[in-house]
Amino acid sequence: MLVAALMTVFSAQPGLAQESSPPRIAPVLAAADLRPARDLSGPWHMSIDPYRDGMAGFHGGKPAMSSRRYADIDIAETERRDGSALFEQDLGRSPVVTLPQSWLTQSAEMRHYQGLVWYQRHFDAHPQPGKRVFLHFGAANYAAHVYLNGEHVGEHRGGFTPFAFDVTDLLRDGDNQITVGVDSQRGDKDVPPPVTDWETYGGITRAVTLITVPETYVDDAWVRLTRDGRIVASGTLDGPAAANRAVRIAVGGLGLTMTARSDAQGNWSADAPAPAGLKRWSPQSPTLYDVRVTAGDDVWHDQVGFRTVSVDGDRILLNGKSVFLRGICIHEEEFGADPTRAITPEAARALLTEAKQGLHANYVRLAHYPHSPVMTRMADKLGLLVWSEIPVYWRVAFDDADTLKQARTMLAENILRDRDRASIILWSVGNETPVSDARTHFLTTLASDARRLDGTRLISAALLSHREKRDGVDTVVIDDPLIPALDVMAVNTYNGWYGDDSLASLPSIAWASKYRKPLIFSELGAAAKAGFHDPTATHKFSEEYQAEYYRQTLKMAEKVPFLRGMSPWILKDFRSPRRQHPIYQQGWNRKGLESETGRRKQAFDVLADQYLRWTDAPPGADR
Ligand code: GCU
Repeated sequence: MLVAALMTVFSAQPGLAQESSPPRIAPVLAAADLRPARDLSGPWHMSIDPYRDGMAGFHGGKPAMSSRRYADIDIAETERRDGSALFEQDLGRSPVVTLPQSWLTQSAEMRHYQGLVWYQRHFDAHPQPGKRVFLHFGAANYAAHVYLNGEHVGEHRGGFTPFAFDVTDLLRDGDNQITVGVDSQRGDKDVPPPVTDWETYGGITRAVTLITVPETYVDDAWVRLTRDGRIVASGTLDGPAAANRAVRIAVGGLGLTMTARSDAQGNWSADAPAPAGLKRWSPQSPTLYDVRVTAGDDVWHDQVGFRTVSVDGDRILLNGKSVFLRGICIHEEEFGADPTRAITPEAARALLTEAKQGLHANYVRLAHYPHSPVMTRMADKLGLLVWSEIPVYWRVAFDDADTLKQARTMLAENILRDRDRASIILWSVGNETPVSDARTHFLTTLASDARRLDGTRLISAALLSHREKRDGVDTVVIDDPLIPALDVMAVNTYNGWYGDDSLASLPSIAWASKYRKPLIFSELGAAAKAGFHDPTATHKFSEEYQAEYYRQTLKMAEKVPFLRGMSPWILKDFRSPRRQHPIYQQGWNRKGLESETGRRKQAFDVLADQYLRWTDAPPGADR
């Protein structure tokens, strides 16, 4: 009787029941961005729909034909033939915009629009027998409703991860019409919830492509160096001939070829000792190898770096050697006065080069959500270690089972997209989330999912801490109950900006942890408006105050014996609706070390000089 009662208690508490394995993502289409594809970027028609008439009629149910944006009809022609026909929208004659990019910058009226926008374009296709065609989205923020030739293809929630639909049976030979409704409105049960400290760039913000593959193809492939010195390859075939299929894995430039045979579910794996000639990936030597996986008619390929990352006590080891992470935080927002979250290779290179060449960084925290694959591939190429995270940010509905499901799906989509990226060493499962039993269970479930999906990387989360006097010393104490589920502790610290600490007092603040694990300062920072000066360095928002904040905070950091890295907040100023001071902010968070247009502030050089010194003599090297 008692056991039954306990089971009832557990199952009655949403999110407290023992979690199952990570959600299955299908299709994965790993390395989709390297597959030969038809790129649908370019001109699309756009129409706003603030009251979502295109989604439902005035009493609910299917939308009236007059509002049905996705209907497969030529409205202009219909009106010419029948003057009595009633339509109250027509995407075919709506304004044309260039995708991918957020709608915020399409016009002055759109700058603050949040809600539903419809996009539509036509394209020719010529389906071939024995082939499958996937419609692939790099990301759409926040919910996407996809239609092809008037048919509902599918939906996706989550603004920063890829998704795809098999449209083989819906494609016409000749002209096709794709219509996508993107709704940027988030609710309290979404991930993230409505309130964040960054702009909601609504829209189709990454590439939309048509990917044609053989009817049985390599859907997932993950090739990595394991801590015991082996090259392991594993993945999944998908299609009618996925089972019991020969698979060949070749690592170009290493003369390494492995073979496998898929099982009844299409899963395959192979491994071999790492060849003696293997050049391990590192920031100093970001060596990438061309990897090909062949199965039947399909050849999957990616550019893969081989390295290991681990923790040893309170140290982080890269390729077995202790490393100090000299980092900086970066939002997915290109340099410029009017960014639209269009991350091209040039935009990614500009941001990451400022970190690597300008700041002498070896690490970036790509906050607060999965960034474009353009960014993570650029980090692989330039040689920067990466912290990758999902936007479990601030006040998430931790006790809601659907919210947990959404976060788990987002984490799996992120890891399955990027686990071939050597640059990524950390998966983060949250940022500054208020401690509660429900929150700690929620994040522990995510940490467990991350480990099951990828046992080769480290798990972390940006946490909060608290202050107390210990033996008369002002001490920051780290004792978050989530830490046992993490490999690396990370804390956001703003002493000297938020609160009343004087800058001069910062170096005397001590740090203590209940757990012996490596610590990263996942954020620290102060704001400054570029060009605003106060020689006394006492006025917040002056460049001098920000620079002095960095000098004093870095002195404090050098004294923390288990500190193994930092990613100050943040490389450049970024749009935030929460920052509306008319003189200093005007809708921008000004904690950047440079302005939104890349004008470096005095603090930039303070950090750069410190990182240059730490390059050869990192803190704690002698400890
Ligand atoms: C928080 C948060 C950031 C935010 C920053 C700030 O730590 O993680 O997203 O922008 O502080 O206050 O500027």
